[in-house]
Amino acid sequence: MAAPNPHKPTDAFSVHSTGQDSAVQLHDDAVQQTDHLTQTEHVSTPYDDAQEQAEQADPYEYASDSGFDSGSLLGDETDTLASSIMNYRMENGRQYHAYRDGAYWGPNDELAKEILDFAHHMYLLTLDHKLHLAPVRNPQTILDVGTGTGIWAIDMADQYPSATVIGTDLSPIQPEWVPPNCHFEIDDVTLDWTFPTDHFDFIHIRELFGCIPDWDFFFQQAYEHTKPGGWVEIVEHSVQPIADDGTMGPDHFFHLWGRTVVEMGQIFGKSFTIWSESKERMERAGFVDVVEVQYQWPMNGWPQDKKLKNIGRWNQLRLHEGIEGFMIRLLTQVGGWSVARAQVFLAEMRKALKDYKTHAYLPGTVVYGRKSLRS
Ligand SMILES: C[S@@+](CC[C@H](N)C(=O)[O-])C[C@H]1O[C@@H](n2cnc3c(N)ncnc32)[C@H](O)[C@@H]1O
Repeated sequence: MAAPNPHKPTDAFSVHSTGQDSAVQLHDDAVQQTDHLTQTEHVSTPYDDAQEQAEQADPYEYASDSGFDSGSLLGDETDTLASSIMNYRMENGRQYHAYRDGAYWGPNDELAKEILDFAHHMYLLTLDHKLHLAPVRNPQTILDVGTGTGIWAIDMADQYPSATVIGTDLSPIQPEWVPPNCHFEIDDVTLDWTFPTDHFDFIHIRELFGCIPDWDFFFQQAYEHTKPGGWVEIVEHSVQPIADDGTMGPDHFFHLWGRTVVEMGQIFGKSFTIWSESKERMERAGFVDVVEVQYQWPMNGWPQDKKLKNIGRWNQLRLHEGIEGFMIRLLTQVGGWSVARAQVFLAEMRKALKDYKTHAYLPGTVVYGRKSLRS
């Protein structure tokens, strides 16, 4: 007999909606499958006013604004929007989020979800099976910004059963069966956050490279919504492979790859270089005791070191299977490349990933800092 599932299904996805449209104008050659989101944008209703008053009455009791939580099953504009978020866009054979159409470079289909979960496994290997490095003690309110498949949020909810863990994302790709203390919301994190201020004991950010147009504004939001004494941690890596021992000559394809990804991020208006800027930006936002821990993800299993070799093998697999998703929208929709040219570029990268003589890796950082108790 199968063991009973300890998790409960989520009631529904909550949707926070404010009025920003897509970050890029997607080209016409993409197959448009979405309705106009603006037709279903959230409009203030008496239900909202009551909800707002309830939230203001007790800001520490977090209340979602989902239509499914109301006393009626008739629905309102919020749950209309909730159904529009499922009208995914298909583009070059891959499926993309519909809410804030065009805002994010990656697909949200099954393969993309699998690749995100590979990365989660790699982070566990990298951080010796820890979910965070910040010295968080008995956290009760935890936020995972841009949660993806929600795998980190779910693990955190299991690790801290008395805490409430909220994961936010543009895509409703999180599983239905999750721990009862884990909740997901559809939200655009680049906008003003609607959570109470001074609220979270811990805010976690991972791989939001290429997602945030203004990191200073983002960290300002994170600071405002962290409880005094609480922690924020950001985990990011470079997209530009490097080698320390001269095995990656100046003509190696990895140079072109790295330059191209960074350039696409610049055109997109959301940079891929946050991994090297996190510490400085967090300090600028007001966090104290900021610590940076560096890590390396080898491009394949070239290292002698057992742990790095294992991470490298996973990284090779993740990139080999994942680069189409990482780059096809950026190259074709943002860079204006033809699909054929993009596919040749991706094939070149897959070939380079099998080059064991080049001792290349992606450098990365885990940066965490505290909001002072006196703030
Ligand atoms: C590379 S994935 C990382 C997912 C997750 N943090 C992890 O480490 O497994 C980036 C995630 O950010 C989400 N995202 C991108 N832009 C966003 C935005 N403006 N608001 C909310 N989520 C966003 C994407 O939908 C995607 O799930």
